Formats: sequence, structure tokens, C-alpha cells
Amino acid sequence: MADQKSFYITTPIYYVNDKPHVGHAYTTIACDTLARFKRLDGFCVKFLTGTDEHGQKVQKAAAKSGIDPQAYVDQVSQKFRDLTSTLQITNDDFIRTTEERHIRACQNFWTNIADSRAPNGESNIYLGKYSGWYAVRDEAYYSESELTEGPTAEKFAPTGAPVEWVEEPSYFFRLSAWQETLLQFYEDNPNFVKPNTRFNEVRRFVEGGLQDLSLSRTTFDWGVVIPENTDHVMYVWIDALTNYITALDYPHTNSSAYKDFWPADLHLVGKDIIRFHCVYWPAFLMAAGLRAPKEVFAHGWWTIEGQKMSKSLGNVIDPNELVQTYGLDQVRYFLLREVRFGADGDFSRSALVQRANGELANELGNLAQRVLAMINNNCDGQVPEPAEFTKEDSRLLTAAESALDLCRQAMERKAFHEAIEIIWKVVRAANSYVDKEAPWVLRKTNLDRMKTVLFILSESLRKVAILMLPFVPTGAGEILDQLAVPKTDRCFAKISLAAGGLKSGTTLPKPKPVFDKLRLAEEGKG
Ligand code: MSP
Repeated sequence: MADQKSFYITTPIYYVNDKPHVGHAYTTIACDTLARFKRLDGFCVKFLTGTDEHGQKVQKAAAKSGIDPQAYVDQVSQKFRDLTSTLQITNDDFIRTTEERHIRACQNFWTNIADSRAPNGESNIYLGKYSGWYAVRDEAYYSESELTEGPTAEKFAPTGAPVEWVEEPSYFFRLSAWQETLLQFYEDNPNFVKPNTRFNEVRRFVEGGLQDLSLSRTTFDWGVVIPENTDHVMYVWIDALTNYITALDYPHTNSSAYKDFWPADLHLVGKDIIRFHCVYWPAFLMAAGLRAPKEVFAHGWWTIEGQKMSKSLGNVIDPNELVQTYGLDQVRYFLLREVRFGADGDFSRSALVQRANGELANELGNLAQRVLAMINNNCDGQVPEPAEFTKEDSRLLTAAESALDLCRQAMERKAFHEAIEIIWKVVRAANSYVDKEAPWVLRKTNLDRMKTVLFILSESLRKVAILMLPFVPTGAGEILDQLAVPKTDRCFAKISLAAGGLKSGTTLPKPKPVFDKLRLAEEGKG
């Protein structure tokens, strides 16, 4: 690691008994794209994902299936591991909260908080009695004022989840004493929550006053046992959030993993779980004497063909099916290109097919096909030798080269769609350049010029493909294979002509199409 910059990025850990859906795929693909981008940019990356396996919801589901909770989670967590491989996710670790390392980390984290004092001098954790509303489905507590009433007086959380009245002894976290410290922390770290609108929501919530948080339960036992009182298990959210430091060998804060990667550079989460990540988590960490993460970015939610995604509507989309039907690159491209990251979006099969065909197949795929086929047919299948560059040539090369810095800036803001648009400007410029220079005419009139034009095009294609690797790793990799770019040269440090440009005379493999057009039968689906 010596002088390499580090980057620690996490997805939320997924509720183990949920069925993987497009929302899970979205968070994971976004993290994967950033992780790949940072690796290509020379960072030492740690990328963590996993499954959230404790809590009342899981215990109930296991009981329903008639098996013990551990056997149940062992079985169902596999779906999420399988999803990471279907999506070709490059996570460096997959954490399960039922692992020994995690239980140890949670118990140490708890003890450190319990031994500490809140900003008002009182102990951070105390034993009390909880009475209030709890939604098992959300694993969250709600106040009376947040609830709505159904036709037969049953009560619901704002998320639509049914709530139940809970009364039991509970350990509490003295969150009420943390208001000032948190507000000061937000002020000192203006990039802590992104996008800004979400940061405003978080600030408003804290400014409105904080209540102590119930941190343990006694009415079920599927959780991490509280070290000083084995009648209690930890509230599933303190258990879940701790996963981010378990994976860095916590409580061993002297370990190289912890020293290299904490505080995390980015927790990427959906907008529904910002309160946990932006209020509770930094308060817990500060209480335990640890630093808070550098940034939490909250993305928006997908509706499906205009409707809220829900089990009862039967419109939950299985990402495995999507990948099988449309191809992984196509799905990744659509999710990252269609909406501004942070905003809500609507998933529609026809929009996916339109983007995949119109942009990936027609614009990038065709460009690659045309250039590689012309080189194969007219240059003995070898990278041609260029003559002197014209202004037009240099303009295209410069545009392709300067796209890297612009992409970096967009990716810093997690603006995936903007990064793609920046690359696409180069793709479009290259397509107009082919039309204008017409190398098929030059073949008969000026062979040297034809070779220069094909060199400029293949070199631009190399840069575009390297930049597209994080977004569409398969297709971009195939383009680089066809340009015979060595694996070690597929990184941003080699993007310039001087550092990693194509070498004239290199023999190229026989061209084959990339980003096939999706067939009509598939277009017709859905
Ligand atoms: N287990 C908790 C996270 C604990 S992290 C310390 C959890 N799990 S979850 O499986 O319910 O959700 C995981 C992620 O999926 C969340 O970031 C959530 O926002 C995201 N999505 C769930 N439905 C979604 C959509 N319809 N659209 C986009 N993302 C959504 O929460």
C-alpha cells in the first residue's frame, strides 16, 4: 500500500431473506462501477458487500420454513452471493453478520460504547424499558405521530409496514445528548451526505431534537447477545452497521486493514436508510471513539413500468432474469445511464432495449465494428502506421484524452450518467469523423491518409474502451482484446498516446461484433 491511495466503498448489507431485486442490483452495480473506476485510476480499493442476517424478521421467516435460523440463513444468503457473480461484481469481501468475526466486532463495539460517556457526561448506554411501536418488516421504531390507521384500526408505518406495540426491558443509546455534536460534525464535514437535499433532510431531522434509541430486544433471540446481559440481543441496526468495520478487523484498530481503510470513503445506500447511516452510525462511532465515514451517498428508488415495486403487485424484477434476457452490459449501462444518480427512476424494458440498441449497439458497437473491419480488410489486420496528423486528427485524439479528467470529476460526484455522456461525446465525434474522412474512399485515393485515419480511430476507440471498462466491463474488454491491448495496459495511467498508444504493426485478432442488437422477440417482452 506504501504510497498508493486507498478507497473503501461499501454497499448496504442486504436483508438475507429478501428476494434479490433490481434495487439490490442497482446499489451493487453502482458500487462496482466506482470500485472498478478507482482501481483503473491506481487506487488500492476495498469493496465490501454482504448479507444482514439477524433480527426478528429473519427469526420469523425461519420459523415459518420450519428450520432453525442458522440453517435458514446459510441457505438463503447464497442467493446474494450468486447475484454478485451474475453481475460480475468485483467485491473484495462478502460479509455475513452471523460470522464469528462479526459477532466479536459487535460485542467489542457495544462494550466500547457502553464504557463511554455522552457529550452531557452521562453514560452512553443505560438500561430502561421500551414501550412503543415497532415494524418488524422495516426493523424500525416509529412514534405515534408518524403512523396512519387502517380500516380496522390497525396501524401502519409511513413505509406501509404494519407496526406492533412493544413493551420490554431494553438498553438505550443516549442519542438525545448527541444533537449538538452531530450538528457540529455536519458543519465541519460539508460533504458527509450527498446529494445536498438529503443532507438538508438529515440536518432538519437532528435539529428537530433526538430521542434516545432502543438498542436491544428481549422478546426474541436471533441476534448478537449483549456482553453484559445475555437476556438481550442487539437491535439489528447497530449489528448491521458494524459490518463496515468488522471487515477491517475491528476491534483490531492497529491492523493494516483498519489503518489503511477507515474511515470509509463512501457508504453508498438507498435514500430509505440515510437516518441510520447519517445520524445513528456517526453517533455510535464517535461514542466508541472512532471516526465517522467520509461520505454517505443516497441514491433514489426505481419504480417498475411506472408503478411502485412490490411483492403484492407481482412486479418485482429478478436481476438474474434481466441479465439472462438482455445481457449484463446492457443492464448495467441502462441502470447507470438512464437517471441521474441520486434521483428516482422508472425501470422499463422498452427503455432498456432502446438505450442498449441505440447507444451501445448502434453508436459504440458500430464504431468498433467499422474501424476494426476496415483495418482487417485494408491494413493486413495490423495497426496501421500513421502519417502526420491533421488538425481534425489531433482534435479527436485530444477530445478522447481529455475525457478522462472530465470523467474523474463526474465520478467524484457519482454522476455516472454524466461520465457516460462525456465518453459518448467522443464516440459521436469519432462517428462523425469516420463519415467525414470516409476511409473507404481514401482506400482508392490516398492510402497513407486512410492509414492515418484508421490509426486515429483505433486509438480513440482504445481510449473510449478503457474509459468504458467500469460501466460495461465485458464489451469494453472485448474491444480492447480486438485492439490487442495487453491487460497490464488497461488502466488510466496508459490512456495517453505517449503512455500506452497502439503500436503500428501490431497484429490484431479477427474482428467480431460487440454489443449485439437485442432481438425483437426480447424487445417485445414486458
Ligand atoms: N439490511 C439493510 C441495510 C443495512 S446496511 C448497514 C437494508 N437492506 S435491504 O436489503 O432492504 O436494502 C438494501 C438496499 O436496496 C437499500 O439501499 C435500498 O435503498 C435498496 N433498494 C430497495 N428497494 C429499492 C428500489 N425499488 N430502488 C432502488 N433501490 C432500492 O436496508
